[in-house]
Amino acid sequence: MKKVFLNLLKQPITNSYLSNVNNTTLKKEFFYNLSIAFDTKNYLVSIKKPINPKSQYTDKYAHRASQSKTMNNSFKKIAVKLKNRFKPKLSMEIGSNDGVFLKNFNKKNIIAVEPCKNLAKITNKKGYLTYDKFWNVNLAKTILNKKGNLDLIYSANTISHIPNLKETFKAISLCLSKEGVFVFEDPYIASVLKFNSYDQFYDEHVHLFSLLAISKLLKKNNLKVIDIDILTTHGGSIRFYVAKDDSNFIVSQNVKKTYKSELKQKLDKFSTYKKFSYRVKKSKKELINLLKKLKRQNKKVISYGATYKSATIFNYCDIGPDLIQFVTDSTKNKQGKYTPGKHILIKPPCNMIQEKIDYAFLGAWNFLKEISAKEIKFLKKGGKFITHVPKVKIIKKNAN
Ligand code: TMP
Repeated sequence: MKKVFLNLLKQPITNSYLSNVNNTTLKKEFFYNLSIAFDTKNYLVSIKKPINPKSQYTDKYAHRASQSKTMNNSFKKIAVKLKNRFKPKLSMEIGSNDGVFLKNFNKKNIIAVEPCKNLAKITNKKGYLTYDKFWNVNLAKTILNKKGNLDLIYSANTISHIPNLKETFKAISLCLSKEGVFVFEDPYIASVLKFNSYDQFYDEHVHLFSLLAISKLLKKNNLKVIDIDILTTHGGSIRFYVAKDDSNFIVSQNVKKTYKSELKQKLDKFSTYKKFSYRVKKSKKELINLLKKLKRQNKKVISYGATYKSATIFNYCDIGPDLIQFVTDSTKNKQGKYTPGKHILIKPPCNMIQEKIDYAFLGAWNFLKEISAKEIKFLKKGGKFITHVPKVKIIKKNAN
């Protein structure tokens, strides 16, 4: 049974930045109710009513994974690690974005799957065989017929976006070679609970995974988790290494340890999530109070990073241009547009000192180290960051 524990109110599609704010665009803007549920049967945490992926992953998709130095480095690291550990002959990536992971592979040895046609075009142009389609059993069969079994399937921040996990895992099981490995990483529900990062819930994050839930779901497709990495990327992620039940892989101690730890954290209990929802409400109150106080003091407050996560915060907390003057973001196709739902103008990165900015709310709080290194002068001149993670606070010092 799916039991709702958190209601994040009316939310827009996070990727739907507005080019103009006028009657027509406002009328067209789509909102849905973002409530989060816990499945008492398989322990999966998901959006109660996910929206149709076809309206999310279009040829207007804005996010470019290769924009961040942190992400470039981490994809390079994992690509090298996977090649060394599993020595795959043929690999595939599901949700290849602009090719930030693929570029570490020989073009002949990797296939890309990316439903956003604008992104698929980028990797196709670079010579990677790219399917601009959603991952499902039909596509798995097409690939299997054309290229044969896959030794490595990798996916970062994509599997959690897919409403139908049953079909997803069935399709994986279908084309994975007998000793093949499916490696996927997504934000980790245990980190969300730990850091109170409720902004990890937005339309694209249909599920937030635990090992407990994934183990149950994989079992139905004769797959098993053989290893796990707990990561700091995206504010806390979990990487699952999955193989066929009848493969020769031995389940690592790491898996057993994480399983035990999740039971200890009661990730299989509804009450755990209900308690989290009270902490979220408290965080909202504190953030609004802080921003209102700074407004009364005539402080100039902006937001750093027009992230999808911050769309959840701004819409849930009702934070608009009255409290945040503008958002800065280095992604060119976000600049000049307005944030979804609350319509705050997005500007290119600016000189924070010249613009006399007093505070920058960290919409991209998961890049705190990268941002504070970049904005060291701003901090030295008395500029401050605001974060809500793990609780609402002001940051005055370089985090490195
Ligand atoms: P993400 O958390 O979904 O990866 O998005 C991070 C966003 O923050 C992305 O739009 C780029 C932006 N960003 C900046 O504008 N400046 C920065 O220094 C960093 C690290 C990110």
